[in-house]
Amino acid sequence: MFFELSEEQSMIQQAARDFAQIELMPGVIDRDEHQKFPAEQVKKLGELGFLGMMVDPKYNGSGMDTVSYVLVMEELSKIDASASVVVSVNNSLVCYGLEAYGSEAQKEKYLKPLAAGEKIGAFCLSEPEAGSDATSQQTTAEDMGDYYLLNGTKNWITNGGTASTYLVIAQTHKELKHKGINAFIVEKGAPGFTIGPKENKLGIRGSDTHSLMFNDVKVPKENRIGEDGFGFKFAMKTLEGGRIGIAAQALGIAAGAYEMALAYSKERKSFGKPISDHQAIAFKLADMATQIEAARLLVYKAAWLKDQGLPYTLEGSMAKLFASKVAMDVTVEAVQIHGGYGFVKEFHVERLMRDAKITQIYEGTSEIQKMVISRSILS
Ligand code: CAA
Repeated sequence: MFFELSEEQSMIQQAARDFAQIELMPGVIDRDEHQKFPAEQVKKLGELGFLGMMVDPKYNGSGMDTVSYVLVMEELSKIDASASVVVSVNNSLVCYGLEAYGSEAQKEKYLKPLAAGEKIGAFCLSEPEAGSDATSQQTTAEDMGDYYLLNGTKNWITNGGTASTYLVIAQTHKELKHKGINAFIVEKGAPGFTIGPKENKLGIRGSDTHSLMFNDVKVPKENRIGEDGFGFKFAMKTLEGGRIGIAAQALGIAAGAYEMALAYSKERKSFGKPISDHQAIAFKLADMATQIEAARLLVYKAAWLKDQGLPYTLEGSMAKLFASKVAMDVTVEAVQIHGGYGFVKEFHVERLMRDAKITQIYEGTSEIQKMVISRSILS
């Protein structure tokens, strides 16, 4: 067992830490308040190679490992989870899905600009009537010979308005249930494809979440990913890696709130001494640090397993389940340590507390992670 980061991983971690402080921190409160997408920051993340981190350089990717990816997710999420979710979706769901399962032509046409950060992608699985129950897809893709006709609505789509390339899951053969589902690449601007208004959310308010409507959208046959009927497996395999990214996001939110609470507790005085000298606060900090370290070990291990080519479904779900709970618990405590200051926007921790909640919901709720974990340990 070896717990040290490599020199390269440490450098990537430092680069992400610097980026978060220099580029994300200024304006993060304003973007949250006014629901502004961090467009400039996302462009710079692309220039740094953080939008196609694990993609092979021959497709414009950075060729980094999953451990480096979670380090970046952790550092960015300490400050701005609205920016880090763009990194997560583009890397884990869109680039990974295309690189692992796309055709050579799809990689040339769609993966290259996504990995270079020139374009942003979205992953479209959730529907009004199919959230956790992802096999119940109502969006249909009728086989019309040399194209598919796409009809339906997708909900809660991250990067819904800013993306150019959409991976859309739809039902082709209803009678075959999950075996009749396909995944398609749909381009923004396709006739019949409309984007609903931006959702007004509790947290990650800078991120761009929309419903998408497909009304007789013609999708060329060559835009289907994999064999006919591969779509549900495609979604599940892709989400497995995505869950590691969201676990790292949750870890970063927790670590960011903890670091702020730690610094504040050393400065803020009450009853004649820094509040960190009061055992009531010191014990809170001890609990927070311990929970964060345990979450970190789970997240890094899941990433490491993926890098070794070993199974990581179970560990990815464990990491997401645990880290997202830690994110909730730690951010609530960080607000408590800040007292009244924790309840106002200038001190950041209230935003991190609001941002933490989504990590227990997207890319599979905590209940879905328990389902995956229990099935794995009982099988
Ligand atoms: N890898 C490969 N195949 C898998 C798989 C996996 N991890 N998980 C399931 N499958 C296969 C099964 O083997 C089965 O195939 P066969 O019949 O050929 O054996 C098929 O898929 C159906 O599996 P189940 O019977 O287990 O399906 P289920 O309906 O009982 O449960 C589930 C599956 C795990 C609950 C799944 O529906 C799920 O993960 N739901 C949550 C969906 C989700 O995470 N949504 C997130 C939306 S995306 C998002 O949030 C992105 C964003 O914007 C940030």
